[in-house]
Amino acid sequence: MKQALETIRRTADELIAAAADERAVEDLRVRFLGKKGELTAILKQMGKLSAEERPVVGALANEIREEITEQIALRTKALADAALTARLASETIDVTLPGNRPAQGMRHPFEQVLGELKQIFLGMGFDVVAGPEIEYDHYNFEMLNMPKSHPARDTQDTFYITENMLLRTQTSPMQIRTMEAQKPPIRIICPGRVYRSDAVDATHSPIFHQIEGLVVDKDITFSDLKGTLEVFIKKLYGEDTKVRFRPHHFPYTEPSAEMDMSCFKCGGKGCSMCKGEGWIEILGCGMVHPKVLENCGIDPEVYSGYAFGIGLERITMMRYGIDDMRLLYENDLRFLRQFK
Ligand code: DAH
Repeated sequence: MKQALETIRRTADELIAAAADERAVEDLRVRFLGKKGELTAILKQMGKLSAEERPVVGALANEIREEITEQIALRTKALADAALTARLASETIDVTLPGNRPAQGMRHPFEQVLGELKQIFLGMGFDVVAGPEIEYDHYNFEMLNMPKSHPARDTQDTFYITENMLLRTQTSPMQIRTMEAQKPPIRIICPGRVYRSDAVDATHSPIFHQIEGLVVDKDITFSDLKGTLEVFIKKLYGEDTKVRFRPHHFPYTEPSAEMDMSCFKCGGKGCSMCKGEGWIEILGCGMVHPKVLENCGIDPEVYSGYAFGIGLERITMMRYGIDDMRLLYENDLRFLRQFK
């Protein structure tokens, strides 16, 4: 029996030292020390020994068990250390290598100009609101003094979803929605997408953007309109920019006007950008029609207001000297990267 124990000691010694990984070490632990292991098998036969032999063999068996246990622990630690060393070696980072520059995007020219515009109006105490692009005929036309038979509707043909629902042709319906939801004083701008059944060319697109403005309070006059819009244009295009107002007609303002600014390219002398005029049309505006105020439950005897509608495409093109609107929608990176 002593011999058998010595054989176990030797074999375990060799095999554990040679075990290649933790799994192999575990297998050896089961093989020698497990319930059905070789050492246990020997101990089970102790009963056959004489009373003198038993303690001697028992002591030897315990000694061997401790030895194997210790060796297993040592081997397991050695293997773990080696694995860590190997990992550290294989994962070294060469900090002197050039890095990969992460691709950095930039905001679309629309967003850049819109961002500036919002800042200007926020600075003058306006709120920025948003509204639905699928709109009721009621808000897009009716409440703005454009009943079903009104000729002004001809210029704003759009995409109808039902007879009473359409893709909004202008951001002006947000004037009505705002006045219905909120009593004066009102000071808002509303940027957003609008739709018309127009064919695409250098200055038209069936989807484009407007920024609506609305101010309603006591004692609001045309001077407030002029002053505010002049400050806005000067902030966006520079202090030397001049503006002029021409009489116009919109069904929801009275009086109405169109505002021109002096050409940002030639300063008013006349060039290809302004088609020799020196002036560029930039927005429509006017004093909110008393009927529109009444439609929204605001007393035109007490309150007055002004409104304006700016085309975002136009002011963006002016800002950067872009001569074809299609460039703004094509998402050609060679074009967009110029606005970084
Ligand atoms: N809604 C007009 C358009 O689409 C622009 C406009 C003109 C808006 C005058 C206004 C305004 O609020 O007062 O052409």
